Amino acid sequence: MQNLPVRMRRLRKNDSMRRLVRSVNLSVDNLIYPLFVCPGKGVKKPIESMADCFHFSPDKIVDEAREVFGLGIPAILLFGLPEQKDSKGSEAFSDNGTVQQAIRNIKRNVPELLVITDVCLCAYTDTGHCGIIKDEKVDNDATCEILGKIAVSHAKAGADMVAPSDMMDGRVGVIRKVLDENNFIDTAIMSYSAKYASAFYGPFRNAADSAPAFGDRKTYQMDIAASAKQAMREIELDIAEGADIVMIKPALCFLDIIYQAKQRFDVPIAAYETSGEYMMINTAAQQGVFDRQSAIMETLYAIKRAGADIIITYFAKEIVKNKII
Ligand code: PBG
Ligand code: ZN
Repeated sequence: MQNLPVRMRRLRKNDSMRRLVRSVNLSVDNLIYPLFVCPGKGVKKPIESMADCFHFSPDKIVDEAREVFGLGIPAILLFGLPEQKDSKGSEAFSDNGTVQQAIRNIKRNVPELLVITDVCLCAYTDTGHCGIIKDEKVDNDATCEILGKIAVSHAKAGADMVAPSDMMDGRVGVIRKVLDENNFIDTAIMSYSAKYASAFYGPFRNAADSAPAFGDRKTYQMDIAASAKQAMREIELDIAEGADIVMIKPALCFLDIIYQAKQRFDVPIAAYETSGEYMMINTAAQQGVFDRQSAIMETLYAIKRAGADIIITYFAKEIVKNKII
């Protein structure tokens, strides 16, 4: 028989044919949209370091939550800014903190929207570290105890899920235990399990005013050159301690970690396309380097194809609004 040439292009003939044979699908169902809550009343203020993102006061965030839910996005991830910072990050676990107020307002007005809260100390401590400092070092276990208090205060305000982002050892276990002890057995935990000491958090740290005043986060966040096995251990430990969802962050530089985690674990895998990844695309597109929407979609498909079940992205609203997913 004659050797016929293989024609791979047959299935790329037109858009319908390409759609027919696609297997990586993005859905609004799997998106989480991050939002920032600031003190005050009637505030909706553009965030300088992050184009098209805003600081909302707890009253103003309700309209935004309504819009997000109206677009079909099932969940938001809340970050708070305190009125005052101190050594213990006290406002982080105050029942009247900005995040706690925002949670109550949102759950009262848009009850079906899932409210996930970032649980960390860096925006609340006067050192800007994600933990309590003792003798110039981050005190792991004292930090976990406070993280437990923060989680309970969020759950009390009505949060559906808490997301510890500090990278202390054992914090998921502590949080699960105190949540259960306080009867918040249905409050889920999405753990920032493999979170790297990355350059891609820059714009966020401006937005949250959470840059460390001294040193860096390398003693708690993962080394960018660590073996993938270290990431697998972090994830394994978090699952054993009770994490319902595990997260890898940032997304684009760690697609291999997302891929391996997906092969290995049976819990939902989330990936965070961070502020730096967002601004990298935003800025380049603005300079005419490439087409904005095409670049956004290419990154989201990559993250999905690597194995992320859930994607946390500042592009969530935009892509749904523009009907590109
Ligand atoms: C706080 C926190 C950070 C991010 C999420 N939670 C910053 C950091 O660890 O310094 C980054 C989010 C982003 O860059 O979009 N621990
Ligand atoms: Zn932090």
